[in-house]
Amino acid sequence: MSTIFAWLFLLATSFAIALENPSFVYNGFKNSRFYRDGVAEITGNGLLRLTNYTKLQKGHAFYPKPFQFKNQSSNNSIFSFSSTFVFAMVPKYPETGGHGIAFVIAPSRSLPGAVAGQYLGLFNVTSNGDPSNHIVAVELDTVYSSEFGDINANHVGIDLNNLTSAISDPAKYYLDHTGRNYKNLSLMSGQEMQVWIEYDGLEKQLNVTIAPIKLPKPQIPLLSLSYDLSSIILDSMYVGFSSSTGSVVITSHYILGWSFQMNGQARALDLSRLPKLPRRGPKEQSKALTIGLPIIIPVFVVTIISITFFVIRWKRKYAEVFEDWELGSGSHRFSYKDLYIATKGFRDKELLGIGGFGRVYKGVLPSSKIEVAVKRVSHESKQGIKEFIAEIVSIGQLRHRNLVQLLGYCRRKGELLLVYDFMPHGSLDKFLFCPSSSRLNWSQRFRIIKGVASGLVYLHEEWEQVVIHRDVKASNVLIDGEWNGRLGDFGLARLYDHGTNPETTHVVGTLGYLAPEMTRTGKGTTSTDVFAFGAFLLEVACGRKPIQQLASDGKIILVDWVVSCWSRGAILETTDPSLVSDYVTEEMELVLKLGLLCSHKIPAARPSMRQVVQFLDKDVPLLELSSLGFNAGCITCGQEGFDEFVSSSLHSSDLNYLRSSSVAGSVLSSGR
Ligand SMILES: *[C@@H]1O[C@H](CO)[C@@H](O)[C@H](O)[C@H]1NC(C)=O
Ligand SMILES: *[C@@H]1O[C@H](CO)[C@@H](O)[C@H](O)[C@H]1NC(C)=O
Ligand SMILES: *[C@@H]1O[C@H](CO)[C@@H](O)[C@H](O)[C@H]1NC(C)=O
Ligand SMILES: *[C@@H]1O[C@H](CO)[C@@H](O)[C@H](O)[C@H]1NC(C)=O
Ligand SMILES: *[C@@H]1O[C@H](CO)[C@@H](O)[C@H](O)[C@H]1NC(C)=O
Ligand SMILES: *[C@@H]1O[C@H](CO)[C@@H](O)[C@H](O)[C@H]1NC(C)=O
Ligand SMILES: *[C@@H]1O[C@H](CO)[C@@H](O)[C@H](O)[C@H]1NC(C)=O
Repeated sequence: MSTIFAWLFLLATSFAIALENPSFVYNGFKNSRFYRDGVAEITGNGLLRLTNYTKLQKGHAFYPKPFQFKNQSSNNSIFSFSSTFVFAMVPKYPETGGHGIAFVIAPSRSLPGAVAGQYLGLFNVTSNGDPSNHIVAVELDTVYSSEFGDINANHVGIDLNNLTSAISDPAKYYLDHTGRNYKNLSLMSGQEMQVWIEYDGLEKQLNVTIAPIKLPKPQIPLLSLSYDLSSIILDSMYVGFSSSTGSVVITSHYILGWSFQMNGQARALDLSRLPKLPRRGPKEQSKALTIGLPIIIPVFVVTIISITFFVIRWKRKYAEVFEDWELGSGSHRFSYKDLYIATKGFRDKELLGIGGFGRVYKGVLPSSKIEVAVKRVSHESKQGIKEFIAEIVSIGQLRHRNLVQLLGYCRRKGELLLVYDFMPHGSLDKFLFCPSSSRLNWSQRFRIIKGVASGLVYLHEEWEQVVIHRDVKASNVLIDGEWNGRLGDFGLARLYDHGTNPETTHVVGTLGYLAPEMTRTGKGTTSTDVFAFGAFLLEVACGRKPIQQLASDGKIILVDWVVSCWSRGAILETTDPSLVSDYVTEEMELVLKLGLLCSHKIPAARPSMRQVVQFLDKDVPLLELSSLGFNAGCITCGQEGFDEFVSSSLHSSDLNYLRSSSVAGSVLSSGR
């Protein structure tokens, strides 16, 4: 039966193609014959899933047949067209998503050469901006990519052959025709939203509108671009979608329904027939509760509720979660009310930054007037949260002048608030990479490096239990009032390890700082911290990030470039140009070489943090790298190496390295 329908449907759509003003409507995609590639697939209930929860993937889905876009009897101008679709972006972890979805008009269905990540599966580093692409796209982008001049990490833009949008705006919709009243939208909220894309062939104007599902189309569009698309669009073009995920944060991108019309208004979608998104645990339940309760509870109870309403609201505003086991833990617990007052109600003005784990606000504690930084970390699962808090609490007892002090915490439903010492100068990365802020001189940098190293020795060896940081990088190093480097965020990466199936360990950290074995085992060790510290050393010495997409060939992956300069005896060419030559050559060489040694692909060949400190203090001389058996083959980093390492297991040549590297290890330890 269903096959007959499918057949009739296909027949109907192919007739539609033949008509003068072709169109289609899909309320769900069951049995549709879309062209798909990458990880795009049609789920059992008819959702078009462009990407699922996998890193650095892209997915394309195109209507199988091309459309004629040009009116040959009118100087090849572009016909009017109109399209509407419903999408949802469901991030694996709340508030962190990536990268986005794009509606695409393109000359081919496969978009050859396109890559994932910030390129959205549309372009690559060389094809971006090339007029021979002939691609018009509407991007729904949830990651801020400064190289494309993005305005924020939640915007809608129109892209003409170029990821630097011709026009873009934060995701929002207008409530009336005045253009003054609007509501913000969060693209990656996991909620279904509808988009309308309309091109007026006479006015040569492209409009894009977005709204939450079930709301009528807003009266004025979010974006309106006056541009004659005939310079970009060819006569015969395909329409479809492209989507990509990033390297760490991962999201499933769905299209639920889609309608397209040449020369006219796209037919409305039947929203009641759209397929349902997969259930998302506790969120779904609470929705059922809020819908169910008012029906069950008789009217007279409602009046009583309204009397007690204000009391309840007051209580809920400051509600916390408290359990018995927390009583004896000895760590300081803050009341939510105090933190609320300290941060002036977590208002945007107090926002210090948004990290991988949540937002950080500045606050002044009401009683003591101490300045603090409050980090709000949301978590989905109840499982494991107890262990995690126990761990955070015990970490709160760590005391070291190169660690950002955790002062205490507060717990609410689905949310954890961590209170830290306030660091007046903020994080190190802005002093290294941000052209507008003042640069640090070499002696400041060397002092910060030594500080961070001694903080890591404390975590790894000097405290009663081994603490793995898991996310060492410049942006996690904060600068205190005396220009000391202090490590922040230690142990936090564990949050994402708890409460998930141990068989599906997933890697937490940042691309470019992740040790190769980490991508295989998913397990953080002191050696993976040393690896990340190596990337950090190079970052500070060279004044750039471990991976820089827009750098020229051979320089994209920092460690590869440093190792190639080192092989030709010119390692100092990699130093941060802003230092001019205002540094101590011996120290600079030491830092760069140590950075390479820490980046060794074999964990056992990397020094321990204690050895690193001895080298930095010049207590133990760092032998010539080549005499340690080190060569360019010892480096596996960057995106390529990454994937290779995942797909290949240890080769016999690696085993040889293991042998020779244990020799290197003994050279290091005998040097003590
Ligand atoms: C994502 O899709 C790929 C390719 O279809 C598949 O191999 C992988 O198992 C999927 N992952 C999840 C989490 O569904
Ligand atoms: C194509 O152009 C001709 C000549 O300008 C015009 O009469 C006709 O209406 C156009 N067709 C459409 C579908 O816009
Ligand atoms: C057709 O295009 C040419 C060149 O773009 C232009 O000069 C001419 O005015 C156009 N004619 C019409 C009828 O639009
Ligand atoms: C970029 O994409 C183009 C096609 O658009 C392809 O020819 C080229 O090889 C790609 N370049 C890279 C570096 O992948
Ligand atoms: C992409 O567009 C931006 C802004 O218009 C422009 O500065 C940039 O040069 C373009 N990229 C290329 C490769 O043409
Ligand atoms: C929307 O968000 C922006 C910041 O992204 C904020 O400045 C603005 O006040 C918000 N507007 C509304 C109506 O919520
Ligand atoms: C695009 O938006 C503008 C401004 O609201 C409106 O005047 C115009 O009619 C719209 N065009 C289309 C094709 O919807």
